Amino acid sequence: KLIAKGEVTWKSPSNIALVKYWGKEANQIPANPSISFTLDTCATTTKVTYKKLENKAQDFSFDLFFEGSLKEDFKPKIQTFFKRIEDYLPFLKNYHFKIETSNSFPHSSGIASSASGLSALALALMSLEKELNPDINEDYFIKKASFLARLGSGSAARSIEGDVVQWGNHEGTTNSSNLYAVKYPYKVHTNFKKYQDTILLVDKGQKEVSSTVGHNLMHGHPFSQQRFAQAHDNLTKLKEVFAEGDLKTFIEIVESEALTLHAMMMTSLPYFVLMKPNTLEIINKIWDFRKRTNTHVCFTLDAGANVHVLYPESEKEEIMQFIKDELVAFCQNGQYICDQIGFGAKKV
Ligand code: PMV
Repeated sequence: KLIAKGEVTWKSPSNIALVKYWGKEANQIPANPSISFTLDTCATTTKVTYKKLENKAQDFSFDLFFEGSLKEDFKPKIQTFFKRIEDYLPFLKNYHFKIETSNSFPHSSGIASSASGLSALALALMSLEKELNPDINEDYFIKKASFLARLGSGSAARSIEGDVVQWGNHEGTTNSSNLYAVKYPYKVHTNFKKYQDTILLVDKGQKEVSSTVGHNLMHGHPFSQQRFAQAHDNLTKLKEVFAEGDLKTFIEIVESEALTLHAMMMTSLPYFVLMKPNTLEIINKIWDFRKRTNTHVCFTLDAGANVHVLYPESEKEEIMQFIKDELVAFCQNGQYICDQIGFGAKKV
């Protein structure tokens, strides 16, 4: 029985991958498993207002508002998303949806909003599904939300829960799946509690390479098989690192993953360099600072020029001072965002 109308709002965070997802098969199946810290501050809030149509529509019926204004250019992405999830949410064509979305971070920051945005929308649609089927339990709700989010943007599958989340089959991880992400099932040492992520905005422009194009460059890539195997190995190594709180090995894995992601883009055809001179300046400053102090500051990168500076909460004061003194000068307009590990999406 369909309900006439209603509304629901979800706030869903972004996440930062430690072992990177780069390369995929059909139906958004990842070529390798990945793991991420869920973020706290960087998030998308999405309100979905639904109204039952008199007759089932031929096509999806929705309006999209981004930060208050009607957004036609985002429509194709949502259209594709609806098409992909239609079989799993058969009620979609019975409703008109008004989707109102806003981000906590500046929209031209070069920070991808696909993980937070598509997970928030997936959750809102799951809330409607639960209205229609009240028997759905919590576990099913979360798994299916991640499953649907994955069909929108792979990394979005990792934004439903916190604080450490894994997505993709991995022999060493029980219950891991290519279809949805799971909360990391093993021990995570208190060294990682409230782990900090200060995001340095080096280049706030549009992404040079869309992630769809990027993932596809891994097909026929000369190093793809070694890369996929390496991601599995790094996940295996992280199990002990997380259990023991071994920050030194953590840093080694995380920085190597970031550089490997960029190395894959530099060695594909066509090839891309997504770092900017200031990205490298920052990396060198971080290495230099780590050598001269006893701190555990390190970096990771997404498929762009911005730098995520990661460090334990216990070193926050010293590292924030270093960031202000030495790194902010390399940010566009001196802009950066302070974030930390978060605990997943919330219904508002
Ligand atoms: O979710 P997508 O398709 O935009 O891919 C994201 C890929 C990276 O951000 C580069 C890595 C990751 O695992 O998040």
